[in-house]
Amino acid sequence: MPTPTTDHSGSPGPTVAVSDPMNTVTDSPEQQAKLDEMYAQMKKLDLIPLWTQRADLMPDVPDPVATAQKWDWQQLIEVARRAGDLVPVGRGGERRAIALANSALHGNAFIAPTLWAAIQYLGPGETAPEHRHSQNAFRFVIEGEGVWTVVNGDPVAMRRGDFLVTAGWNFHGHHNDSGKPMAWLDGLDIPFQQQMDTAFFEEGTERVTDESTPETSRGERLWCHPGLRPLAFPGTQTSSPIPCYRWEHTDAALTEQLALEDDGYSGTVSPGHAAIRFTNPTTGGDVMTTLRAEFHRLRAGASTTAIHEVGNRVFQVFEGSGTVLVENEEFTVSTGDVINVPSWKPWSVRTDGGMDIFSFSDAPIFEALHLYRTYQQEGI
Ligand SMILES: [Fe+2]
Repeated sequence: MPTPTTDHSGSPGPTVAVSDPMNTVTDSPEQQAKLDEMYAQMKKLDLIPLWTQRADLMPDVPDPVATAQKWDWQQLIEVARRAGDLVPVGRGGERRAIALANSALHGNAFIAPTLWAAIQYLGPGETAPEHRHSQNAFRFVIEGEGVWTVVNGDPVAMRRGDFLVTAGWNFHGHHNDSGKPMAWLDGLDIPFQQQMDTAFFEEGTERVTDESTPETSRGERLWCHPGLRPLAFPGTQTSSPIPCYRWEHTDAALTEQLALEDDGYSGTVSPGHAAIRFTNPTTGGDVMTTLRAEFHRLRAGASTTAIHEVGNRVFQVFEGSGTVLVENEEFTVSTGDVINVPSWKPWSVRTDGGMDIFSFSDAPIFEALHLYRTYQQEGI
């Protein structure tokens, strides 16, 4: 059967196949003229027959438009610094954030159909005003310190290796209390909410509501004691109440997994591959309803087995270097580099010298809808 026309151009007009998937084309010029007339009428009425679209709308396996792509951290930093010199931060634009735009997604500021990833840059003494939005957000810090993000009036210090949660509809702003600029990775579900028409936005104060700079936020003082939850806050919460998952804890967890492996006990997900997921302590599930975040550590010489997953995944190398293989494409990555893996494209990682990788994905969306699948070929 001929393949129906494939149209990823985003053009508003309906796509009418010139091929013959239903074997309707005949040698009869008269019959063909009638068919052409029917397709023209359908187009005029904004109707598209399934038989010209089936493979596009209902592929045998996910067939993403987005392609795997790598962004070099040094180039990201350089552009962010330039923006810091030329573009003020403030009301309206709200943030000096520069999105990583997947080149296959037609100029949209999306790294994946559901995910936003951006480098955000805040100069010495600058404040990004408070606002809130329905989109869920996180920050991951590759380098630097000196910025406090203030979430619902709670100032949270941002330091190297920290993973910070800003769940949807919480007022938040950032201020740089240091004499140096700072840049970090922002991750949000902006594309998902834009395409689903669920987005709301509201401005807050020009300055952050609490300009103090505590070492430890109130949220951490309340929630960050292993296995202990405050009885003043019973029940489940939709998003994690932990404002920041500190690097010292992530690092210790990964170090111990590999040490247990060395001692002959289970702890790693595969030989030489330690991994943790950031979780909501009130549910045991993901930190936010649309975003999953993990941290992976591969010891020198380790590799992972190729896996297919429904949904979109993004990696940022925290330390070290290695290779990410997505389907048949190899990407050499090192500290700070960002790479996306489109839905169902098999991916694996290997490293000669060891590598720490932060990862986030949209998996909670598809798990909640019972659309999540993985496939791992044995013996690869
Ligand atoms: Fe925001």
